[in-house]
Amino acid sequence: MTATAPAPVTAPRTLAETAPQVLALVAGYVGHRTVSLGLRSGLLRALADRPGSTADDLADALSLDPFYVSVWCRAAFGAGVLERADGGYRLGDHMATLLLATGSPAFVGGVFGVCEAGEVFDRFEASLSSGERMWWEDTSPEWIAAVAGTGTPFYTRLVPGGLERVPGLAERLTAGCTVVDTACGAGVGAIRLATTYPRCTVVGVDGDAHSIDRARERIAAAGLAGRITLVHSALEDMALGEQATLVINNISMHECRDIDRVAANVMAALEPGGWFVVSDFPFPDTDEGLRSTPGRVMSGIQFFEAQIDDQLLPRSAYDDLLTRHGFTDLGSAQLTPMHALTWGRRP
Ligand SMILES: C[S@@+](CC[C@H](N)C(=O)[O-])C[C@H]1O[C@@H](n2cnc3c(N)ncnc32)[C@H](O)[C@@H]1O
Repeated sequence: MTATAPAPVTAPRTLAETAPQVLALVAGYVGHRTVSLGLRSGLLRALADRPGSTADDLADALSLDPFYVSVWCRAAFGAGVLERADGGYRLGDHMATLLLATGSPAFVGGVFGVCEAGEVFDRFEASLSSGERMWWEDTSPEWIAAVAGTGTPFYTRLVPGGLERVPGLAERLTAGCTVVDTACGAGVGAIRLATTYPRCTVVGVDGDAHSIDRARERIAAAGLAGRITLVHSALEDMALGEQATLVINNISMHECRDIDRVAANVMAALEPGGWFVVSDFPFPDTDEGLRSTPGRVMSGIQFFEAQIDDQLLPRSAYDDLLTRHGFTDLGSAQLTPMHALTWGRRP
């Protein structure tokens, strides 16, 4: 009989080693609330505009209580969001980009508001025993706006940079063709597509009436009503005809009630050789990934997803889906730790 190596044993940790891990969770919560408050009150924006401001300067500029503002400044400094400068404070390096620059591919400021919305933790906790589900029409207008703010950097990374990673696609988009944004939400992506590819016509499809209304307003305000058509339909019932060179789906494919019916409808909407690009959160499929910072943030998003009866998926689930439906030339790209693309072509 050969001796087998004993299973690795993780040494038990002491109480003193474990306590800081628990307190770090509380510190993260304090940092989160400090940033949210700074975003809503305009304190972060004011510091970006006037670096070196003291708490009194900020309170003066924003008509806030100076003592309260000094408490906020100290907490934001402790969280590493502010640095000391010229007797006052400035934003830490890259904080303006990460927290305030809504047009930047690196913008994460929207995630703070999403995590604090009642649709994430509060409603989940209230429904913990009933397990009551909801759908998009049960969410608030503020939630739809917050989701659009979080989806925007995904579109910014996708259009045009992400789409340029798909072999052969950029040339077709520049030449002009039909592009469909499935689950277009409040219309940010449809506008981005129409403005980036002026020779393309764009179709936005979404199952939520309120989102379609917001998209219609946004598109009209951008003067693009002539080039973007909106369709109010569940993707499971989408019947567009064989017209699209590109179908995209941004942070929504995991939400489909019947992902196989949607993949079949996308295939039917594509011209031969057309592309389907899924842009989504790549949920970790390892324990190590779950313990990573992106994994933990995505686990937060899962509280909302559970209430609409789905979960974020590992990126490989889309390889399986596209393969199952006969897509060819599959490819993928990781754009950030929380954003991956998966694509395939209609044969
Ligand atoms: C997370 S939001 C994303 C919206 C947009 N793509 C963005 O990135 O801002 C999800 C959207 O998908 C839509 N949606 C989810 N599942 C759908 C389905 N099966 N059919 C149609 N729309 C769907 C919802 O109505 C909602 O507007």
